[in-house]
Amino acid sequence: MDKYTLERDGQIDFYKRFLPRVNPSLTIDDILDDNNDGVLNGNLLEFKLRIPDLNSVLFQCIKYLSAMRVKGKPVPAGIHLIDLNAGVDWYFESSTYLADIEKLYSGGASKDNSGFIGGKPVKTLNYGNNDVDAENLIMLLKQNSYTKIHIDENCIVGWATSFYKAVPTARKEDFIGDDTGAHKTIGEIRKPKKFSEFIYPYTGETNVKFNYLMDKLNDTLQKKNLGAFYTHKLYAEKALELVHKAIARVPEGNDYIILDRCAGTGNLENGLSDDELSHVIVSTVEYYEYKVLQELLGSKVRHIIPPTETNDTFNAGLVTGADALSKEYLENPVIKQYLENTKCTIILFENPPYSETTSIEHQKRKAGKTSFWKQSYIMSEMKKDKEVKGSTYNDLSNLFIWSAFKYYLRQPTDSYIVFSPIKYWKTQHLISREFLGGFAFNRRHFHTNIDACVMCALWGQSKKNHRRFSIRAYDIDKEGKLKAEGTLSIKRIYSIYSQKFYEKGSRTDDIQGGIFAEFDGTEADKNRASIRIRPLTNDNIIAYLVVKGANFDNPDSCVHLLTVGAYDANGFYVRRDNFLEKLPMFCASRYITYNREWTERARIMKSADGAEKYKKALSNGKLEKWLLKSLLFTCLEMQNHMRTFTGSDGRFYKNELCLDGTNGETLAISTLKAMNKNEKENELFEQWNRVLACAKDTSEYNSSLTYGVYQIFAELDTSYKDEKTGETVYNNVELHTALQALKGLVKDYYNAEIVPTLFEYEFLK
Ligand SMILES: C[S@@+](CC[C@H](N)C(=O)[O-])C[C@H]1O[C@@H](n2cnc3c(N)ncnc32)[C@H](O)[C@@H]1O
Repeated sequence: MDKYTLERDGQIDFYKRFLPRVNPSLTIDDILDDNNDGVLNGNLLEFKLRIPDLNSVLFQCIKYLSAMRVKGKPVPAGIHLIDLNAGVDWYFESSTYLADIEKLYSGGASKDNSGFIGGKPVKTLNYGNNDVDAENLIMLLKQNSYTKIHIDENCIVGWATSFYKAVPTARKEDFIGDDTGAHKTIGEIRKPKKFSEFIYPYTGETNVKFNYLMDKLNDTLQKKNLGAFYTHKLYAEKALELVHKAIARVPEGNDYIILDRCAGTGNLENGLSDDELSHVIVSTVEYYEYKVLQELLGSKVRHIIPPTETNDTFNAGLVTGADALSKEYLENPVIKQYLENTKCTIILFENPPYSETTSIEHQKRKAGKTSFWKQSYIMSEMKKDKEVKGSTYNDLSNLFIWSAFKYYLRQPTDSYIVFSPIKYWKTQHLISREFLGGFAFNRRHFHTNIDACVMCALWGQSKKNHRRFSIRAYDIDKEGKLKAEGTLSIKRIYSIYSQKFYEKGSRTDDIQGGIFAEFDGTEADKNRASIRIRPLTNDNIIAYLVVKGANFDNPDSCVHLLTVGAYDANGFYVRRDNFLEKLPMFCASRYITYNREWTERARIMKSADGAEKYKKALSNGKLEKWLLKSLLFTCLEMQNHMRTFTGSDGRFYKNELCLDGTNGETLAISTLKAMNKNEKENELFEQWNRVLACAKDTSEYNSSLTYGVYQIFAELDTSYKDEKTGETVYNNVELHTALQALKGLVKDYYNAEIVPTLFEYEFLK
């Protein structure tokens, strides 16, 4: 009979036996990596209960090694195929299979491995019953050598990431520098030092082969400052339709230029005809992009800024004179001659750098203050413009958009074709110009992994206050083809909830003072940092609601519904006499959670523009039924973080916006009695009852509390991590199952019964 029936058990025994001899300071967790069975020094190990076919397991390992190369991880020299029940290790050398390792594979490494024909193993070690072989195995496992791989387009980004991690102070030149041009730093890929044991020197003379990856090869500092996210080839091609429209607007007899101040390596210009290119002026501030731009487009375009490389061109990784946000650039005589020529039409065609200092990712990196563009000339000029809202300064792309209209577009037939998320027009009102056409593209195809809407718009120079317009949407499918996804409407937003719907100030019978909460609904420490709320206490207060801003960029951090005030304020107290009319704000704040398609994200936002219409509908009773639906949804939604608890002030705070009647009716229960339930609503109540019944069966249940869904999830749906498998194990499986089922029902109910009215009254727009 086989000793092992579970691979995991055999693997743990193997490591327990050999690790103390190879390196006693290592644990199994140190070795497990990338879903394979372990990398130990310069060895990849793959365990099986039985190995009937060496070729297929060897092929699986080759796929792991291929993935390691792509990720910029050293490729171990040794491959061990280990049959746990036979106690045999077949040892191969990865260098023999380098050509296969340097191919790309898709799908799981353990699938479709038949048909591969490998060579003979270098060694076969019967470690299970032969001590000499066991010692030989230990010797092999101690070896620390690697198979050198070649750098190509598939792996260079992975190796760049590893390089900047290993040498945090390194600059891009230290990685991809070459021997051409005036600035000669020979980078790691051409003369490996750090990775000399892992990679062969790259022999390409220039970096032109990596033209489409130059943004991803930026060092950490440049990533922060340059906001470079390249445009997919298909999107660049599609945008040319707008360029052609702009060219068609050029008055008879006029010359025209197409200016791209942030061209990168020239992706946008790739599809232009030779004649069109002869009108193009390009520049980019990053030195290695500039060199590739020169190589690819230098001989075809009208001008590159600067025209040729000199000894002064390289300046700490940047190109002297090419910073589009500098005064020097604005005064560049090469461009100026066209701006001053009334018989020349100006077309700007740009995908400006994108770097938002308010984004969560950005804040995590604590990068807010140091970005060099924050000190730019354009920034200082933009700050003088009284019409520009403060929030717009946080977006680097806005500096490009603002300056395009301020300094470059001067005649009604001038045009700007620009890629950028819609908010600069929709909520920030950075420009109010004539809209002449546009497309919606998926941000995912701009070298990010975010599904969201990016608009490519053609603007004219004339002032115009559009309230809405439509654009056609295009995704890119798995086959790499453009996929039309219908027409999207883009509407402008003029007001946000806090301006129109929040209850301002306090009421006469409010008592100043009280406790306040963390965002998870638990009471906050009186001495915690960043307290901004001035708490109020009143028997008619049932909750505190925060729904911040218009956009859905960080949806969960913009909404808080709590039993007492949020420690950092930004919201208002919800009362027994107004809760129904206030809850639609909470409902609207959940839209993106239940509608995650790229066409919705960064396009649909929260607005209070329908406030008058809404108030009218409230006063004539038109919304009574729908308000009950909103209440039901609010009671069953996870982001409602209201809890029942006894505060440090001795007061008992009961969650009134939940459906637990164990300790008497809540305000929600008594209000919902008026609901004439439909099938979906009956289903929701039934599922809630299941959740509550399961909750009561848990050992953590406290019968004196009145539970909402979130408090059940946080306090009763407890779990732990299985040390062996790493998986989450739920203590109360039935409760967890019931909560999951409720989530699905809540989502369907929301989209069918709540969302249409939210749009009708422009809570969503
Ligand atoms: C979003 S990428 C667009 C590149 C290319 N046009 C494309 O669409 O793929 C923005 C480019 O602007 C460059 N850039 C960033 N800041 C700049 C500045 N201040 N002046 C000029 N170029 C800048 C970046 O290096 C990057 O190549």
